[in-house]
Amino acid sequence: MAKLFLGIESSCDDTAAAVVSSDGEILSSIVVDQGALHAAFGGVVPEIAARAHTEKLDIAVETALEQARTSLSQIDAIAVTAGPGLIGGVLSGVMCAQGIATGTGKPLIGVNHLAGHALTPRLTDGVVFPYLMLLVSGGHCQLLIVRGPNEFHRLGGTIDDAPGEAFDKTARALGLGQPGGPVVERAAKSGAPNRFRFPRPLLDRPGCDMSFSGLKTALIRERDSLITARNGLTEQDRADLCAGFQTAVADVLAQKTARAVELYLEDAPAKPVIAVAGGVAANSAIRASLKTIAQYQGLQFVAPPLALCTDNAAMIAWAGVELDRIGHKGLDPLIARPRWPLDDQQPALIGSGKKGAKA
Ligand code: KG4
Ligand code: ZN
Repeated sequence: MAKLFLGIESSCDDTAAAVVSSDGEILSSIVVDQGALHAAFGGVVPEIAARAHTEKLDIAVETALEQARTSLSQIDAIAVTAGPGLIGGVLSGVMCAQGIATGTGKPLIGVNHLAGHALTPRLTDGVVFPYLMLLVSGGHCQLLIVRGPNEFHRLGGTIDDAPGEAFDKTARALGLGQPGGPVVERAAKSGAPNRFRFPRPLLDRPGCDMSFSGLKTALIRERDSLITARNGLTEQDRADLCAGFQTAVADVLAQKTARAVELYLEDAPAKPVIAVAGGVAANSAIRASLKTIAQYQGLQFVAPPLALCTDNAAMIAWAGVELDRIGHKGLDPLIARPRWPLDDQQPALIGSGKKGAKA
């Protein structure tokens, strides 16, 4: 009989709880967004996030149980994000989950947030191991070969800003709103991608590591010289800057992904798949360039629905299901970890970012 897993996620600025069954049915997925609390500060404030998680976690759990038409007594196990992320938020979730586990006597599984993202294509599309995963969000950027629920090989990642972070900083530099991704994408639609020539950092180097902070600096330099020359920016200037920036990000992601595909294909997977996750996967220009690479190199392209690409607790519950299935107890001892690389054989990525540790 299928087991029921309660998932809890609070590693960044979303308080989330979900109930998922071991046969892959999402019975509920509640995400309480904190956007409004941080809007005035232009980024996530860790202390505000942690306090808001503490206030919202129990209501998120109650609502998730209610919507799933179940109760704690029917839950078989609890899976909680134990890192990486903003430590105050991770701690709030771990404490809440430990409280529930102690009170009910149910098993508790400490899950890696990145593993949650990386295993989502199995929940949504039944993808088989090994597959290639590009995780691109406001806090993360990694290319991984996913070989098992607890077996990840990191081929590369950002050494500074995550792509979503670069979109957010670009929007801020141009006086557009937050989050930056959707507004920059909208502005880019009426822009000329070739008016400004932005750099493609690290493409001249071998390997799959990426860098996005220089791109944002180049954009600020172009903005400043336009302002000096003409006393301000026109709508068209903004659109052209956005289009140039977005094309550069898409190019870097596509070319580094193409390199990763070659390495992945050395594994000779029976059904080669590339999957994406993270908020930046919503960008249609980026999606299109990844799809082209997939088609060209003969891979199936999998993009889970956006609500499961961005931070949520269904992916944490599902990672719990996957670990439980192989008899893995999760992080032991269960502590909150600000940094927790999925692949500890690889050297640490530098950069910690506004949304917590990169890995
Ligand atoms: O995965 P996510 O919801 O949260 C975390 O980063 O944890 O991703 C949010 C990020 C933000 O930086 C946002 O600007 C970016 O994803 N984003 C986009 C788009 N929609 C959201 N970036 C580019 N194009 C988009 N359409
Ligand atoms: Zn995330």
